Amino acid sequence: MDVATSVVAADVTSLTTDALVIGLHDDGGELAGAARASDKATGGAISELLAGGDFTGKPGATAVIYPRGSLGARRVVLVGLGASHSYGLEVVRRAAAEATSRAAALGATSVAMTLHQSPVPGKSAADVAQATVEGSMLASYRFEATLRRARQKSSIDTLVLVADDRATLHEVEAGAGRGAVVARAVWAARDLVNQPPNVANPAYLAAHARHLAQRYGLALHVGDKVWAAEHQMGAFLAVTQGSRNEPAFIVLEHNAGRLDLPTLVLVGKGVTFDTGGLSLKTKDGMIPMKGDMGGAAAVLGAMQAIAELAVPVHLVAICPCVENMPDGAAYRPSDVIVASNGVSIEIHSTDAEGRMVLADALVYAGRYSPAAVVDIATLTGASVAALGAGVSASLFASSEEVAAQLSAASDNCGERVWRMPLFDEYRDTIDAKVAADLKNSGGARGGVGTSAVFLQAFTDYPWAHVDMAGMELVDAPGKKTYLTAGATGFGVRLLVEFVANRVS
Ligand code: BES
Ligand code: MN
Ligand code: ZN
Repeated sequence: MDVATSVVAADVTSLTTDALVIGLHDDGGELAGAARASDKATGGAISELLAGGDFTGKPGATAVIYPRGSLGARRVVLVGLGASHSYGLEVVRRAAAEATSRAAALGATSVAMTLHQSPVPGKSAADVAQATVEGSMLASYRFEATLRRARQKSSIDTLVLVADDRATLHEVEAGAGRGAVVARAVWAARDLVNQPPNVANPAYLAAHARHLAQRYGLALHVGDKVWAAEHQMGAFLAVTQGSRNEPAFIVLEHNAGRLDLPTLVLVGKGVTFDTGGLSLKTKDGMIPMKGDMGGAAAVLGAMQAIAELAVPVHLVAICPCVENMPDGAAYRPSDVIVASNGVSIEIHSTDAEGRMVLADALVYAGRYSPAAVVDIATLTGASVAALGAGVSASLFASSEEVAAQLSAASDNCGERVWRMPLFDEYRDTIDAKVAADLKNSGGARGGVGTSAVFLQAFTDYPWAHVDMAGMELVDAPGKKTYLTAGATGFGVRLLVEFVANRVS
C-alpha cells in the first residue's frame, strides 16, 4: 500500500483520472470553480442532481456522476461539505476520506481532489491542502502484514491535487507534501498497534526505532535490563519481571547535540501487552490490550514525521517498552519498588503498570533539561469512563503554556484532548502512609486524576500528560471517516502539530 501524491495546475475538465472529487456545501447557492466548470462540461449533470434533491451537500454524503467522455475524468464523486458556517479543516479531512473511500470501492485507483480550492476561514491554502491529503491517505490505510493476498482490500495508489490558480501552487504543494509525510507517519503508528502482541513485543519496537534511526539519521539508544538496573530504574524493571520478553527502553534523538535548538521530549507508554499482571484483567478487559503501546507508537510516528520534515528542534523520544505478565517472577501487590529518583512506590495493583514505566522515563527525560515534556499513554480506563471511548483524550498539564499549545494543536489536527485538573486531593489518595512514599493506585474513584498526579511526582520541568486510553483502537470509523477499523494512530498528528508550531 502506498499513495503517490502530486499537485498539478490544470483544467479540471480535461484532467485524466479515475475519479474527480468535488465538494459542495448544503447552503452553497451558485456553483463555482471546479463544480461550475464540470457542470457546464457535462451539460448540467451536477445542477440536475442538486435540483432533484438526490444530493444536497450534507456532510458525509456522496453522489457519483458518469460524464461519459464530456470530462477527462471517468467519474465525478460529489461529496458534501455541510453548512458554510461549520466548515473547517476537520470537515475537509472527513470529506476527502469519504470521497476517496467511495472512489476506491468503485475500483478507482487514481483520485483527483479539488476540495482544497474552497478556502477555510483563518487557515492557509497549505493547511487545507494538508487536511485534504491527510483525509484521503488516512482513509486509504490497510493493514496487510498478516493477511493472505486474497483478503487484501483495494485502495487508491495515486492522489492528485488540482491547483486552480498558479499563485497558490507553491502553498498547495507545501501543504500536500506535509500531509503525505504526516499520513505516512500515522500509517506507521497504526501498523505498530495493529501488529499482534506476539509480533510487536519490546524488541520489535526497538527494531522499528533502529530502522527510523537509520533512515532519518537519528541518534538511538536502546536500554536493556542491565542498563536499566545501572540507572536504578526500579519501577520500569518491576513491570518487566513477569515477562519472558526482554524490555526495551528506547531513546531516539533528532538533532542530537544541537545546543542551539530548543529541546522537547516526548514520552510514550510502550506496554506491548497488558494482562494486568498478578492483578489479572478479565478476559474481556484483556482483549484490547495489544493497543497498550499506542503511546509509544504515537511518539515514534511523530518522531518520523518531525525528522522527515526536518523541523528545527532537538527532539527526544523516550519509549519505555515492556510486557505486563503474571508469572512466578512477576512483581506483586504490596511490593515496594524504588524508582530512579529515589521515590518508593507501594504496589496496590500490578495493573497500574503504565505509570510505573512512565515514572522512570519521566525522570530520565529530566537529564535533557527540556523546555517541555509531553507524555502520552493508554493509561486509565477512568479516562474512557470520563470522556467516552474514541471521543477525547484527557489532558493534564503543570504548564499553562504547554496546555494551551496542545489544545491549539488539537483544534487544528482534529485529535481531541480535554483538559482535566491536577487537584491536590488526588495526591492524598496515592499517599502510601506506612511503607513507601507513594502507592501506584488510588482506587477506582477519580482514577484519571490520581494517575496524573502520580506521574507529576516524577517531573520537575514544564510537563503535560495525554491519557489516550480508548482512542488507540476503533471498531468502525463512524463520522471520522479517515479512520480505519483497528488502530487509529491517535497522537501522531497532535504531537507533530504541537512540536512544529512550538518552534515555528
Ligand atoms: N492499559 C490500561 C488502561 C486502559 C484501559 C487502556 C482500557 C485502554 C483501555 C492500564 O494499564 C490499566 O490497567 N489501568 C488500570 C489502573 C487501575 C488499576 C488503577 C485501570 O484503568 O483499570
Ligand atoms: Mn494495566
Ligand atoms: Zn496498561
